[in-house]
Amino acid sequence: MEPRIVTLHDSQFSTYLSEEEIIARIQILADQINQDYEGKNPLFLAVLNGSFMFAADLLKRVTVPCEIAFVRLSSYQNMQSTGKVKEVLGLVDDIKSRHVIILEDIVDTGHTLKGLEQQLLEKEPASLEVAALLVKPECLQHPLELKYIAKNIPNDFVVGYGLDYNGIGRNLRDIYKIVS
Ligand code: XMP
Ligand code: MG
Repeated sequence: MEPRIVTLHDSQFSTYLSEEEIIARIQILADQINQDYEGKNPLFLAVLNGSFMFAADLLKRVTVPCEIAFVRLSSYQNMQSTGKVKEVLGLVDDIKSRHVIILEDIVDTGHTLKGLEQQLLEKEPASLEVAALLVKPECLQHPLELKYIAKNIPNDFVVGYGLDYNGIGRNLRDIYKIVS
């Protein structure tokens, strides 16, 4: 199929992953989660804003009893011994002794996720895993264990399906990558 081009702000983006392919990959993740979490009542923690579409399409395919909550990470950063860590906002649920699955839109260096995992582990969940829509393995700077990955991608900037370029593009049904 001919690539479609969209212009967002000053940049052009070309179709990269179709909605059909995204959904097919999410179905595979859901099947794995349904097997792994039978009887565990997992608590999904979706990281806003980027993961809202991923969270919705994944949860529609999760058939085991489960719960979902939404968190944001502060845009400002606190200096800690480990470096810059974003604060978790909006976590009202008690995650102690729960089987928690973080839902992330995209993992790049892994800084964000590492900081989030550290803060959640302090609250003593029964288990903590990650389901990421996209991962850029070339960029990872931390040895993170990412149990559920819909797709590994090269180091290209992508938008759509929840992901934004300076605020816009989240509503696109497909994922586009920047035209270099
Ligand atoms: P780190 O480096 O902490 O970054 O793993 C994760 C966050 O960086 C943003 N990010 C992107 N956002 N297209 C986007 O729209 C991309 O290609 C991209 N790469 C990284 C995103 O906010 C993610 O949560
Ligand atoms: Mg994000």
